[in-house]
Amino acid sequence: MHVVVLMGGWSSERDVSLTSGRGVADALRERGWSNVTTLDMERDVAAKLAELRPDVVFNALHGTPGEDGTVQGMLDLMGIRYTHSGLTTSAIAIDKELTKLLLVPAGVRMPAGTIVDSETLYDADPIARPYVLKPVNEGSSVGVAIVTQESNYGSPIGRETEGPWKHFDRLLAEPFVRGHELTVAVVGGESLCVTELKPRTGFYDYESKYTDGMTEHVCPADVPADIAAAMMRMAADAHRVLGCKGASRSDFRWDDEQGEDGLYLLEVNTQPGMTPLSLVPEQAKQRGISYGELVEKLIAEALE
Ligand code: DAL
Ligand code: MG
Repeated sequence: MHVVVLMGGWSSERDVSLTSGRGVADALRERGWSNVTTLDMERDVAAKLAELRPDVVFNALHGTPGEDGTVQGMLDLMGIRYTHSGLTTSAIAIDKELTKLLLVPAGVRMPAGTIVDSETLYDADPIARPYVLKPVNEGSSVGVAIVTQESNYGSPIGRETEGPWKHFDRLLAEPFVRGHELTVAVVGGESLCVTELKPRTGFYDYESKYTDGMTEHVCPADVPADIAAAMMRMAADAHRVLGCKGASRSDFRWDDEQGEDGLYLLEVNTQPGMTPLSLVPEQAKQRGISYGELVEKLIAEALE
C-alpha cells in the first residue's frame, strides 16, 4: 500500500501543514508502513502524483487549495482516493458564510454575520462593536481581528488604519461572543470530546495556537454536562449536514451568562491540524485512540 502524504503548498498555513504532514508520515513509518512518500505540493502536483501512482493520498494540507475542493477535484479526476472531505463539502466549509447558509436552517446556532468588502469596511464599522472581523476563507486565525471599543483600530476603521484584515477582499463581521473558546472533533461521524482553549494572551491567535505553552487545553472541558452535550450534538450535525468525511473539527464560543442560548458554532474545519499541539489528535487520545491509530483510521475510511 503506497501512501502519499500531501503537505505544504502555498497557503498562509504552509508551515502548519508541513508539521501535520511530517507527523502523519512519521507515525505511519513507526507503525510499520514501508511505502510512505511525503510530497510538498507545488504547481506540478498532478504530474508528480501521476508518476508516484499512490493507492491513497493522506491530505495534510490546510487552507487554499488543499482545503477548498481544488485538490479534491484534481484527485477525483485522477481516480486517486484521499482522506478527509470531498470536493463539494470542502468548497462549502472553507467559506464561513456559505457554511452558515447551510447550517443555520438545519438548526445549528451560528453568529449572525455581515459580509463586507475592504472598501465598505474602511468607511465605517460594519456592525456595532465589539465584533470579530475575519477573512471568509482563511484558517489558523490568519487575518482575524477582534474590534472592541478600546481597540486601537480607530472609530470608524479608517482607510489609513493598519489591521490584520488589510490583505483580504471578502471579510465577515460577526458580533463578538464573550466567554469561552471551545472545540469538538468529529471522527467517523462521532463527536469525540469538548476541549476548552485558554490562551495566555486572551486571544487564541496563530501564535497561541502553535507555540507550546501559550494556550492551556482543558480536555474534557470543565463545562456543564448539558452544554457539552449540546456542543457535541451541534458538531456531529454540522459534520453530517455538510457531508464531511474522515475528521472535522467544529469551533465554538460560549457565553456562560446565557446558558445553551449562548452557544455558537463559528466554523467547521475539514482539514483540521495534525501537529503535536493539535486538538483532534488530543481528543482522540482522550478517547483511547493514539495518533497513529487515528491516522490509520482516516486512511481506512478513505479506502472504504
Ligand atoms: N486550520 C487549522 C489547521 C486547523 O483548523 O486546525
Ligand atoms: Mg479554521
